[in-house]
Amino acid sequence: MPLVIAIDGPAASGKGTLAKRLADHYGLPHLDTGLLYRAVAMALLDAGLSLEDAAAAAQAAQALDAGKLDDPRLRDRAMGEAASRVSSVPEVRAGLLTWQRRFAADPQGAVLDGRDIGTVVCPGASVKLFITASSEERARRRHRELVGRGESATFATILADIEARDARDASRSAAPLRMADDAIRLDTTELDADAAFAEARGIVEQSRGDAD
Ligand code: CDP
Repeated sequence: MPLVIAIDGPAASGKGTLAKRLADHYGLPHLDTGLLYRAVAMALLDAGLSLEDAAAAAQAAQALDAGKLDDPRLRDRAMGEAASRVSSVPEVRAGLLTWQRRFAADPQGAVLDGRDIGTVVCPGASVKLFITASSEERARRRHRELVGRGESATFATILADIEARDARDASRSAAPLRMADDAIRLDTTELDADAAFAEARGIVEQSRGDAD
């Protein structure tokens, strides 16, 4: 049976780092699905179109070029905000769904991280993790990351961003951020990346053992 690991959680919870490490460990392909939404937002901004233009957003999702997901601009703070806005458009989500499901159907298995992987994209995943951390700790991590990349935002601005984004992601009607009923919650507030990885690996091993 292919091993499909679904990882969801709010902004800057550490799910991306964890997903990458699990993918390396199990030799599986990894998809950071947030990048797809960021890429749709970037396509609109680059074309001078409004983020509120649902038809253009749907079109950008259809035309997404998966070869361009390594553009460093996708990681900018503004792009996270813009992605959160276009991601509430149902046609954008539908356009990206097919793409994500195809990725997850790799015969080897796959690791996907995002907001709706366990609930919508891969409801039948072998293991579902829901990664959380306090909003202060998430803001600290994001602040460190952005400062490291040369962006100049204050901690307070980032904390406010994160709280606004969580509220928007959790309250939208199309695939809101929600923990799947069969997901396992991992709070990483007190865990560094190594400790979070060790815990997550234990959960994956346990689920695999239970499935045998
Ligand atoms: O890294 P961070 O958590 O800040 O953001 P991200 O995972 O790159 O996601 C950016 C935005 O895309 C989120 O705020 C969500 O609104 C949206 N998103 C989504 O709706 N569904 C996903 N599966 C992944 C991201």
